[in-house]
Amino acid sequence: MATASAFHSRDELVAELQADIKQLARKRNAVILAHNYERPEVQDVADFVGDSLGLSREAAKTSAAVIVFCGVHFMAETAAILSPTKTVLLPDLAAGCSLASTIDAKQLIAWKAEHPGAVVVSYVNTTAEVKAESDYCCTSGNAVEVVNSIAADKQILFLPDMFLGAHVRRMTKRENILVWMGECHVHAGIDPENIRLQRQLHPNAEFLIHPECGCSTSVLEAMSAGDIDADGVQILSTEGMIKRPALSDADEFIVATEVGILHRLRRENPSKRFHAANDRASCAYMKVTTLPKVRTALERLQHHITVPSATADRARRAIERMVAIGGNAKQPLSPIPDGVDPGE
Ligand code: 13P
Ligand code: SF4
Repeated sequence: MATASAFHSRDELVAELQADIKQLARKRNAVILAHNYERPEVQDVADFVGDSLGLSREAAKTSAAVIVFCGVHFMAETAAILSPTKTVLLPDLAAGCSLASTIDAKQLIAWKAEHPGAVVVSYVNTTAEVKAESDYCCTSGNAVEVVNSIAADKQILFLPDMFLGAHVRRMTKRENILVWMGECHVHAGIDPENIRLQRQLHPNAEFLIHPECGCSTSVLEAMSAGDIDADGVQILSTEGMIKRPALSDADEFIVATEVGILHRLRRENPSKRFHAANDRASCAYMKVTTLPKVRTALERLQHHITVPSATADRARRAIERMVAIGGNAKQPLSPIPDGVDPGE
């Protein structure tokens, strides 16, 4: 095992930790999954890096005995629900999510009681208890497809992200969607002012925007006013963003999401340039996972994430619907169709 020495460079220490982790993962029959917002060195040691949908699908199909989840708590819970016979480990229990914290099961039960007969669609950024009270889960990669799969006359309660909810309403052109007023502090902080500044600095760049962003509505308004070329705006999940540069003629991209995604974008597209819409948009919950904590997780088999079976059984139905619907990350996931009214 590697031991820290004053004579090691940072790169050498990282390489040693990664070698230790790979060796331990083999010994434990473990697969390492990492979200696109994780630290670069954590992404680089993972067997699979992706968005929430891709990670859920990997967790559901893996043959490994142990899943080390380098992401946040609700993602590890989702993996535990989909793979109840596996040991799911979260290297640091502090990896929460400000968006998932905006609604709990009690609040959802009360909201449902106000709208009997409504169909509940929960973004995957929710606790297992909230999923257990939901009819469908979705991710940013398939939210539009999930809502489109529900009969048009059904009222929908969409939660917890208000910006993603507004995006889904625009894309589906449905009036009968009520949206919970939650937000992610990181994405809410990517505001129209950031976009105005980046447009001045990089007038030829294409916009890649995560639908959780506080700027998404205003960018669509600017597009509708003719200030931004509609071809140059893509609303995408994190994995959709990763795939987009190879499909685009643009050489430069303004990236409106958490900055951890820049690592893969730059590595997989070395001839293109990427600019953060807001370089302070960093999710502290994603960054608590470090290589030493991943190594310790494998050594001690900690922290084991479990979901009580009664909750898991109810949540699984909604999650399995999510995993089954849409989200082909090889295509832009939610291209903006002609005639969409962005003014919501
Ligand atoms: P993706 O599903 O697009 O990866 O997003 C997850 C997330 O937490 C966004 O903040
Ligand atoms: Fe949650 Fe926001 Fe962090 Fe994503 S970026 S994990 S939504 S706090």
